[in-house]
Parts: sequence; C-alpha cells; structure tokens
Amino acid sequence: MSTKGLYGNFGGRYVAEILRKPVLELEEAFEGWKDDSDFKAEFDRYANEFIGRPTPLMYADNLSRQIGGAQIYVKMEGLAHTGAHKINNALGQALLARRMGKTRIIAETGAGQHGVATAAVCAKLGFDCTVYMGTVDIRRQRPNVFWMELFGARVVPVASGARTLKDAVNEALRDWSANFTDTHYLIGSALGPHPYPAMVKEYQSVIGRETALQMSERDLNVEALIACVGGGSNSIGFFAPFIESSEPRLIGVEAAGLGLETGAHAARMTGSGGREGIIQGYKSLFLTDNNGQVLSTHSISAGLDYPGIGPELAHLGKAGRIEFASATDTEALEAVKAFARYEGVIFALESAHAGAEAIKLATKLPKDKALIVNMSGRGDKDLFISAGALAGPSWKEFLAREAEGEAGDE
Ligand SMILES: Cc1ncc(COP(=O)(O)O)c(C=O)c1O
Repeated sequence: MSTKGLYGNFGGRYVAEILRKPVLELEEAFEGWKDDSDFKAEFDRYANEFIGRPTPLMYADNLSRQIGGAQIYVKMEGLAHTGAHKINNALGQALLARRMGKTRIIAETGAGQHGVATAAVCAKLGFDCTVYMGTVDIRRQRPNVFWMELFGARVVPVASGARTLKDAVNEALRDWSANFTDTHYLIGSALGPHPYPAMVKEYQSVIGRETALQMSERDLNVEALIACVGGGSNSIGFFAPFIESSEPRLIGVEAAGLGLETGAHAARMTGSGGREGIIQGYKSLFLTDNNGQVLSTHSISAGLDYPGIGPELAHLGKAGRIEFASATDTEALEAVKAFARYEGVIFALESAHAGAEAIKLATKLPKDKALIVNMSGRGDKDLFISAGALAGPSWKEFLAREAEGEAGDE
C-alpha cells in the first residue's frame, strides 16, 4: 500500500483486489482536478446558484444573553439546498464523476441527508442514481426517502445486519465492485479507502473557508469551533483551515445516546472509546467487541449512529489538536428546544449534539469570547422523531388519525 492517505497510524486503502482499479482511477482524477481553475469555477458556480452559498453566520444573541456566558454563533449550513452540508460533497464528487465519464452514481445513506443531496445533484447533472439505505433508517427518516424518489433516485432497502448505515455501505461496495466501469460510488462522509477522506474534506472545506472569512469580517474573538461527528465530514470541513494553527479550539461532539455507561451510544473518541480496526477499506477507531466484530450503536440521530470515525479525526483526536465531547439523546433534544425557542431555528438532531456542547461550554466562558457551532443540518427531516419525543400524546393521536384517514381513502 502507498503511504498516501495515511493520517498518523490511521487511514490508508484496504480494498479487495477488484476495487483497486476504481480507487486508483478515482485518486488520479481527484489529484488531477483538485487545483484546476475551471473545476473550481464550476464548483463555485453551482455552490452559489444551486446550493445557495455562502451560508450565513448568525449571532445567537437571545440564547447567549439567556446563558450569560460566551457569545454563541451558528454557521447556518442547514440553509444549504436539501437542508444539510452533505450537498457540498455530493456536488464536488458528481462534478468529478462527470469529468471521469461516469454516467451512474451510487450512494449509501443513514439519516437520508446524503441520499437526498446525492439524488438532487444527480437530477441536476443528469446522472442515473441508486441509493442504499438500511430498513431501520428508512423507517426513521421516511420523508427523505420520499424526496430521493421524487428526484428520480432508486432507493434500495438493506435488510442485513443492524439494517443501518454500515450495512448500506457494504451493499454499495458490492454494487461498485460489479459496476465501476460506468459507476461512481459517492461516499457521504470523510471515511473509506484513500482518496475518499481527503476528497470529502476538500469539498466540505468550503464551510471552514467561509467561516474564517466571516470571523475576520466581524473580528470575533473565537474560543472554539464546535461540530457534531458522525463519520466526520461536516466537522473536518468546518475545521479544515484551522487545523495547522493552534487556535481556536476545535471540538467534535459524538453521540452519547442513552449514556456512555449504558453501551447504547456511538462514542468512539470519548468514554471507553473505539478500538483500532480495519473495516470498510480504512484503518481507524471502531466500536467493536473483543473478537473485532462491529458492535451495534445507538443515537437518536441516524447520522451519528455509525461505529467508525474518519481517520483524520481519529488521528487529530489522538494527537490532541481536536478535542472530543459527547451529548446524550436527551441533551440533543434539549438543545433543539433551546435554539428553537430563543433563536427561531430548528437544528437537525445530529447538529443539536454540537449545540448542546456549545450551551455547556458558553456557561464557563466570559462574554467577550465567541463560540461557533456548525448547524450541519436543519431539523425538518426529524419532525417525526422530535415531535414524537417533545409533543407528547397529541402527536401520536394526530398520526393515528392520519393513518386512519389514509386507510379510509384506499
Ligand atoms: C445533518 C447531519 N449532520 C451530521 C451528520 C453526520 O455526518 P458527518 O459526521 O459526516 O458530518 C449527518 C449524517 O447524515 C447529517 O445528516
């Protein structure tokens, strides 16, 4: 294996013989177009016209006043088209796939946001699109399945294993092995075999570049950037321009689920944490048992419910440049409520984990310090989960009435 794509002890490219050709072809294409000015101009044009970039940086003045500590700012990435940061990477990879002459795109999705982003970009750029999704995720993120199909994608239910993201990845890898001549596999997080972690970081770093500019325009005294960490794409993109310097602090927030002590969580860097392993083409930290088998995970947010973490984050966490914290399901829901009540914005449950950490940390800091939290997505997609948890019996009665109405119409 080449040393490219190694982050300290992590990363690399561990793929079956059959996939060597497409990953090498992808690496060559990515390296070839990375600094090309026409490619960048095309990315910027779609980013501006289709995604709606730049996304705003909003001062959460009411909530900050309420807390009485540091000023909380929100990078409003959820205002990007299709509702989350996933669209930045989907656009970058699809433009690359077009230059590689591919006509078909496949993807995996957990929360559905990556699937929706990919399906939208495929509709816009004219690709045939197939999305693999675990049947558990299909149930909890049903609205996103509807949008993907409306954009013309075929959503393939995956009923193996835990029926969540990692199982969808396995199915997508199988498809790619059989069809790579005309098909690009558009991975949705900063993980997988090299060049994926580097490529996803590159296309997501638009978030960090904009943030750096917005910080300096307002002359903010930023103590920390805070982002939730599933596989790690929104966090590494947000942190990218700051990694080489020693400040501000960079904080990744994992899902503590029902509590770190319960075992029902997805925390690979906090608590007892993950173990080294090589899974799905890369070396990193994974939640596994003593025999190296992947453990099932739990989070109220489908997008954080993944047993592995991107290799660069694992490395930077071990090296101390990125700090890790965790928030429980309950803390995430409380953060959704706080930002909705005081700021009129509805965080995705994933981003709400970062929001919860921002609220905790703000109380410990003086008023002249700023914290920037990445709202990686907005909460529309979580309506059925958030309302189920927060609105109580009236929501369940509403659903039952709707279902009765549907049945009556048949
Ligand atoms: C809104 C949102 N935030 C965060 C994530 C977590 O992914 P990542 O860590 O790659 O940003 C997801 C994944 O689906 C998501 O939908």
